[in-house]
Amino acid sequence: MSTEQRKVAIFGAGYVGLVTGACLADLGHDVVVRDVLPDRIEALRRGEVPIHEPGLDELLARNAGRLSFTTEVAEAIDGADFVYVAVGTPPTYSGDADLASVWTVIDELPDVDRRIVVVMKSTVPVGTGEKVRHRLDARGMHHVGYASNPEFTAEGTAVRDFMRPDRIVVGAFDERDADAVVALHAGIDAPVVRSDVASAEMIKLAANAALMTRISFINEIANVCEATGADVVKVAEGIGLDRRIGKSFLKAGVGFGGSCFPKDSLALKQLAANSGYHFQLLNAVIEVNELQKRRVVGKLRERLGTLRGTTVALLGLAFKPNTDDTREAPALVLAGRLLAEGADVRIWDPIARSSELHGVDQVDTVGEAVAGADAVVLVTEWPELADADWGALRATMARGVMIDGRNFLDPDALRAAGYEYEGIGRAADPLSGRAEPAPADRR
Ligand code: UDX
Ligand code: UDX
Repeated sequence: MSTEQRKVAIFGAGYVGLVTGACLADLGHDVVVRDVLPDRIEALRRGEVPIHEPGLDELLARNAGRLSFTTEVAEAIDGADFVYVAVGTPPTYSGDADLASVWTVIDELPDVDRRIVVVMKSTVPVGTGEKVRHRLDARGMHHVGYASNPEFTAEGTAVRDFMRPDRIVVGAFDERDADAVVALHAGIDAPVVRSDVASAEMIKLAANAALMTRISFINEIANVCEATGADVVKVAEGIGLDRRIGKSFLKAGVGFGGSCFPKDSLALKQLAANSGYHFQLLNAVIEVNELQKRRVVGKLRERLGTLRGTTVALLGLAFKPNTDDTREAPALVLAGRLLAEGADVRIWDPIARSSELHGVDQVDTVGEAVAGADAVVLVTEWPELADADWGALRATMARGVMIDGRNFLDPDALRAAGYEYEGIGRAADPLSGRAEPAPADRR
């Protein structure tokens, strides 16, 4: 394929839209990113990047000559060969994906007198492409092509995931459109999977569901490890070396969060239910994850007794390290549960802040979070936590209960530093006997 320079309009300057735009510009294309938020566009024009994503600032700066930002649809569409849709698709109350922003973009597209291709990057239910096709046809826009080109970019590694993907998936109604989208990615060395539109939509949902299933699976194994004396970290290593299983996504912890997994699992569950199928396995995956987020509270109660009047430091707010994204972060659920139990909660994160945390102190240093605390819970495996001076921190705490929600720290080192250390799915220190847990807390 030639690396012919094409003009691409990206609708949505969020985590996905900005990464897509910056990477396509880096491949040599001329990119206009359009968003409805004037502040966001103004900031981008000034060279400020509104989200934290490693490598994105550099990529945007390096390709500034091929990138522009606008709030105007007409300006974005002017001369464009492709219109990428990268707006959010959050869950509605029913759990279905809310496609309101997608329809806004489709409906505000002006008719053009040449062939352009609308490319769906947002995660949408299977059947959405078909509906978009009908909507465009109803407006007489038969010459506007449509393709599904789902993203598999994880936050924190999104730039690398885009430039060096495991595969590129393109589903289109017309082979010309699929050819054009594949050609747009010239320069990226990856297998290309071409399919019909519905299958491309399902590949995205199924990939996420497979990854979530692995996480809930290993979390359940962890819970059985706790009850039986096995160590889930060893178990994951032992099964992960089996090539049929593989190592990735076998980290037990406090459950998955983020802007994709929780909403996409609900969306797939509802998609199945709406077509009359009860997706039993996916329901279990979701339920295991909900319970997993709360298990830490039980662990704290076992060690501290009632949590009323205790102080708990949560380390990490972002749903994973190297992002400032707090959407569906396990820390939010944990903080809410701890507050409900009467604990004082402090939370530290190097970059993430949340306006949803009422009654919780969001502090700037680990030291501020743990000083005087009875317990500390590691929620997000930020690299700086590996280098913290845990011995010095322990000396400032009222009591040294440490729940490592990501099995991130060295248990022996933490115990030597004076902590009552407990991870997820591995041997815990014996209860010190100071707590008197209520019978309901024992599971
Ligand atoms: C994306 C996807 O689009 C979603 O479907 C996928 O599953 C996860 O990632 P993300 O980039 O994380 O969403 O969303 P967000 O960071 O909220 O950005 C969306 C942007 O679109 C926002 O800047 C918003 O202002 C903009 N937007 C929204 C528009 O420009 N037009 C609209 O009509 C609605
Ligand atoms: C995910 C998909 O990986 C990506 O392909 C898709 O395009 C968007 O959704 P993201 O949500 O950004 O990416 O991050 P990911 O690394 O997948 O982590 C999701 C959640 O799972 C995090 O809360 C993480 O802590 C958790 N997780 C991940 C585990 O608990 N254990 C693991 O082994 C892996």
